[in-house]
Amino acid sequence: MSDTSNSIKHVASPLAQQTLQDGSLTRPVAGVRPIRLLPWLQVVKIGGRSIMDRGAAAILPIVDELRRLLPEHRLLILTGAGIRARHLYGVGLDLGLPVGSLAPLAASEAGQNGHILASLLAPEGVSYVEHPTIANQLAIHLSATRAVVGSAFPPYHHHEFPSSRLPTHRADAGAFLLADALGAAGLTIVEDVDGIYSTDPNGPDADKAQFLGEVSSADLVAQEGTLPVDRAMLDVMANARHIERVQVVNGLVPGRLTAALRGEHVGTIIRTGAASHA
Ligand SMILES: Nc1ncnc2c1ncn2[C@@H]1O[C@H](COP(=O)(O)OP(=O)(O)OP(=O)(O)O)[C@@H](O)[C@H]1O
Ligand SMILES: [Mg+2]
Repeated sequence: MSDTSNSIKHVASPLAQQTLQDGSLTRPVAGVRPIRLLPWLQVVKIGGRSIMDRGAAAILPIVDELRRLLPEHRLLILTGAGIRARHLYGVGLDLGLPVGSLAPLAASEAGQNGHILASLLAPEGVSYVEHPTIANQLAIHLSATRAVVGSAFPPYHHHEFPSSRLPTHRADAGAFLLADALGAAGLTIVEDVDGIYSTDPNGPDADKAQFLGEVSSADLVAQEGTLPVDRAMLDVMANARHIERVQVVNGLVPGRLTAALRGEHVGTIIRTGAASHA
């Protein structure tokens, strides 16, 4: 779209004439649904605290299950941070470190967990890949092998929002951002509980905890108390473009992850806002 006249080169751009802040003006160009980059990809987020911190007892059965899933699915396996990040937060907060200094420290633990998982899956051709590889070379890696492992933590690092002293954009938000941006077939979040409850099933009010088989992200925003997923992920879900539902499953029960990837309802399904943005 270029035009040369009077030796001045003009480059026509549909957004050149207006502010990018006026949605009604940008919508004809920016309102279209993005393409799905990897529509065959299944993203699996493995909990740092709920799975990785439990060591061999929890990790080895999950590794076994992932290994058996490889012929069926092409996977981006993302790991969260756990106990070491919590220790880092404790030391860092005591020293007064800003949230932007704490975020990359916690992210490095999510990466460590990814390296552990990738080492165990290495005989199957699975490797740990860094964020730039996920961003730019996932297609070629997943053409060469059935799965790769990465860190679920989003690289906000020193740009982490200062709304809280602890990083708000953690592993679940990072996994969802990636899955939606890639237009993946699905995202499954692996925890140590059967799904999401009305209140923590391991907390002081455990006897009142009701299991939520299916819930909207908007309803979870309104639910008070703790959740097994980042609240920042719920904010992202409101504006999701592709991923219409995410399932939270219990990774301590063999077969749950496999069933979820086959489309069975075996945990809590969170409905996102994606359908309404079609
Ligand atoms: N409403 C809730 N429903 C279900 N579990 C809850 C709820 N509130 C708190 N929990 C607790 O959350 C725990 C999981 O913790 P968390 O989500 O921090 O771990 P993780 O996902 O492994 O961590 P990470 O995101 O760092 O990978 C569960 O064992 C459960 O006790
Ligand atoms: Mg969790």
